[in-house]
Amino acid sequence: MALARRTFFRWATGLGAFVSAALVGVPSVRAFLAPLARKVKRTSWIKLGEADQFEAGAPTRFDFAESVNDAWVETRALRGVWIYTDDNEKFTVYNAHCPHLACSYGFEKEKGVFHCPCHHGLFELKTGKVLGGPPPRALDTLETKVEDGILYAAYQDFRAGVAEKVAVA
Ligand code: FES
Repeated sequence: MALARRTFFRWATGLGAFVSAALVGVPSVRAFLAPLARKVKRTSWIKLGEADQFEAGAPTRFDFAESVNDAWVETRALRGVWIYTDDNEKFTVYNAHCPHLACSYGFEKEKGVFHCPCHHGLFELKTGKVLGGPPPRALDTLETKVEDGILYAAYQDFRAGVAEKVAVA
């Protein structure tokens, strides 16, 4: 009889400990893992300015900071685009990362081409086509829209070093 009572108390104690651990542990684990389930924002519309302010025939660099959520950590990332227009009605906006290894490239005014200083990639101004160097594809263009006279671009990064234009988070 004494043995049965001892066994019962052992089981009751174990069950109590298990229930207590579950009551405390489940919400804690859920709170800890919640950021992983948060949806990653992949594309954001960036306001670039009044559409008629851009110089036709010459590219304009536009830099901005963006919040990036990586599960538990929120950081500020510096982004950039190049804007080109012939007539202030139609716009081409390029992601400012080189499609080779994602360096930031510039514009060589004398030659009228984009130049990446990392491995001397050269790109055509109007189309972003590769003119020289190792880049495996043309500059990455972004979706644009003009609303109430304001130019916007849907900022997106793309995988570097591959021939296809593949969007990344
Ligand atoms: S990163 Fe631009 S040419 Fe290599």
